[in-house]
Amino acid sequence: MPKREIKISKICGFCFGVQRAVELTSKALGNKSKTSKRSVWSLGEIIHNPQVIKKLKKRGLNVTKSLNVINPGDILIIRSHGENIAKTEEAKKKKLKIIDTTCPLVKNVQQIAAALKDKDFTIVIAGDKKHPEVVALRSFAGRNTKVISNLSETKKLKLKKKKIALIAQTTQSLSDYKKMATSIAGLEYKQLHIFNTICEATVIRQKLAVEITRKVDIMFVIGGAQSANTQRLAQICSATGTPTKKIEDASQIKKQWLAGKNKIGITSGTSTPGWIVEKVVKSIKIIGGNINAHNQ
Ligand code: F3S
Repeated sequence: MPKREIKISKICGFCFGVQRAVELTSKALGNKSKTSKRSVWSLGEIIHNPQVIKKLKKRGLNVTKSLNVINPGDILIIRSHGENIAKTEEAKKKKLKIIDTTCPLVKNVQQIAAALKDKDFTIVIAGDKKHPEVVALRSFAGRNTKVISNLSETKKLKLKKKKIALIAQTTQSLSDYKKMATSIAGLEYKQLHIFNTICEATVIRQKLAVEITRKVDIMFVIGGAQSANTQRLAQICSATGTPTKKIEDASQIKKQWLAGKNKIGITSGTSTPGWIVEKVVKSIKIIGGNINAHNQ
């Protein structure tokens, strides 16, 4: 009988940016319980993981879409994706105590965009229009900005006689970004500057996930339903031809998925905590019998 095994990506669980955001939020909630005066708020969920948000809410985090419901003096957490400049200014005017958990790599892209805006570049952002990181980034890039989310959209760009700068959402797939950059380079323009603003931790995570996916019979990608990087990771794994299942937690695993599968791979999105990954591994071991698990 072939040996059954679980290959777990050694780059699993939170990335450093998400880890930092969760730690800063936890610290704010801890301080709040000491003083119990200021409420702690975030504009939208600080990361795209429902289980983590549920735990933080239990500890007192309030999630809202509007600054109107927050009282002066309360604490506002700016999430890892960053925040729109106008909203941050409004929060300052309201005298909120701001704790900025914007990932330093996201901040770097915001600074690049702001500098390009000042030099009259038309900024093309390769990313998801509705993703909070891109929504915030647009406020730094200014009015002269276009967002493209796939290769076909690059062909519709009208850039003639313009100074163009191409930047990417940090969790964009590197291979897709290269294709978009090559396509734009083939258009007419006055100047073109291409910046690789993709987070390297994401690139390494994706690369390792593909390597594992090629060696297994089924691949599990663990992450929140709203998590763009989990979605992308699942697409990349699935593109190898290996059956790939995107799940939020262990409860979503179906026994029949594991039937006849000797090699099982596991990776996770950047906003998935290590304890959810561990629970998935445990559950697969219970469903699939006594399988050896190791990091790869
Ligand atoms: Fe930052 Fe990269 Fe994570 S941009 S939030 S370290 S995925």
